[in-house]
Amino acid sequence: MKILTLDDFDLRGKTILLRVDMNCPIDPATNEISGTKRIEEATETINALKDSKVVVVSHQGRVGNKDYIGMTEHAKILEQFLGRPVKYVEDVIGALAQSEIKKMKNGDIILLDNLRFCAEENYEFSPEEAANTIMVKRLGDLFDLCVLDSFPSAHRAHPSLVGFSHVIPACAGKIVEREVKKLEEILTVAKAPHVVVLGGSKVTDRLEAIKMLIKRGRADQILLTGLIGNVFLRAQGRVKYPLGIKGEDDAVSKAHALMGEYPDVFFTPVDVAINNNGQRIELDVRELNKGDQIYDLGPKTIEHYSKIISGAGTVFISGPPGFFEKEGFSYGTKALLEAVANSMATTIVSGGHLTSALKKYGLAEKITHISTAGGALVLYLTGEKLPMIQSLEAAAKRSG
Ligand code: 3PG
Repeated sequence: MKILTLDDFDLRGKTILLRVDMNCPIDPATNEISGTKRIEEATETINALKDSKVVVVSHQGRVGNKDYIGMTEHAKILEQFLGRPVKYVEDVIGALAQSEIKKMKNGDIILLDNLRFCAEENYEFSPEEAANTIMVKRLGDLFDLCVLDSFPSAHRAHPSLVGFSHVIPACAGKIVEREVKKLEEILTVAKAPHVVVLGGSKVTDRLEAIKMLIKRGRADQILLTGLIGNVFLRAQGRVKYPLGIKGEDDAVSKAHALMGEYPDVFFTPVDVAINNNGQRIELDVRELNKGDQIYDLGPKTIEHYSKIISGAGTVFISGPPGFFEKEGFSYGTKALLEAVANSMATTIVSGGHLTSALKKYGLAEKITHISTAGGALVLYLTGEKLPMIQSLEAAAKRSG
C-alpha cells in the first residue's frame, strides 16, 4: 500500500506539524535524559524542512512513571544536534502554543511540550474519533501538512498519530519512509529459523506480541533476557520471590500459559550477574535472593544463546539484556550483539538502547537493519497493521 513522502509536497513556506518520537530513557536519579539517539534521529526530517515553519511534537514517558517529564531538555539537545535555534513552548494545545505557531516565519522551529500532558494523547481512538479530539480541533487548522515520522510509536492510535492525518494532508518523514521500505524488503527474504532475543522493561506489551510472533512464524526460538526474562523465570519457579513490577501476577500467569502452549520455544537465563555495591557477582539463577539487582547475563547463558543465534536464518533482538552502560555489566549485551553481528543471518536490532550499544561496540555496519523502535517494530514483524501507517495509507488514498 502506498504512502506519501516529503517528495510529494511543495514544502516551501508551509506550516508543518512534525510528529517525531523523542521518547528518551530518563535517569531516575537525576530526571535527566540518558540516551539521545532518538533526538539525533529527529534532525534528519527537520533538516529536510529548512524552508518551512516546523512545529515538532513528541510524547515523553507514561503518566505516573518517572520518565514522564516536560521537553525542556529535549529542546536544548535538539538545538545542539541541529546547530540552529529551537524555541521551546511550554504548552501543548493552549493559547500560548497557538499564538507561537501563528507568529512563525520560514526556517523557524518550535518544540511543543510533552503531548501526553494533554489527556487525550493517552488514549487510543479510531481516526474519526481522533479527528474530533480537542487536540486536533484546536491545532489542526494551523497546519498545511502533517508529517508523521514517529515510527517507534506507530502502534499507538493516539490523536497526534491518527487524528491530524485524518483532517489535513499527511505524509511520512524520512525515518518512517526508510523503515517501511527496509522492513518490507527484509520480510520478503527472511528465512527460518527465526530467533528472537527479547529483553527490555515493557513486559505487558511484549507478552501480548509474543503469541502473535510465534503463530505467524516469526519466532521459532525466543531467548529471554532482562525483566521479561525474570518474569518467565518466576513462572518456571526458578526465581522464587516477587519482582515488584506492575501487574506481576498477571504477567507471570501469562508467561506460564505461553510456556505450556509452546514448550520448545522459550529459553531463559541459567546464570546472571548481580550488582553488589558496584561489584559484579555471577550466580546461578536458583541462587538469587529477593533484593538482588540483576544487571547482566552470566557466561553460561551467553554461550548457550550465542550458539542458538549462530544457527539462525533471521535474528531479531529487542531490549537490552543488561545495564551495559554501567561499568562491569556490559559483558552480556556486548557478547550477544557480537553473536548477532557475526551470524550469517538477516539481523534486525531494535530499540534506542541497543542502537547506542551497537555504535559503542563498533558493530553497526554488520547489522542488516537497525531501528530505534521497540514495541512498534515487534508488532510490525507480527504482520499487524500499525495505526500510524494505516493513517498514512488512508491520507495517500484521499489525496488521489
Ligand atoms: C516506545 O518507546 O516504545 C514508544 O515511544 C512508545 O511509547 P509507549 O510504549 O509509552 O507508548
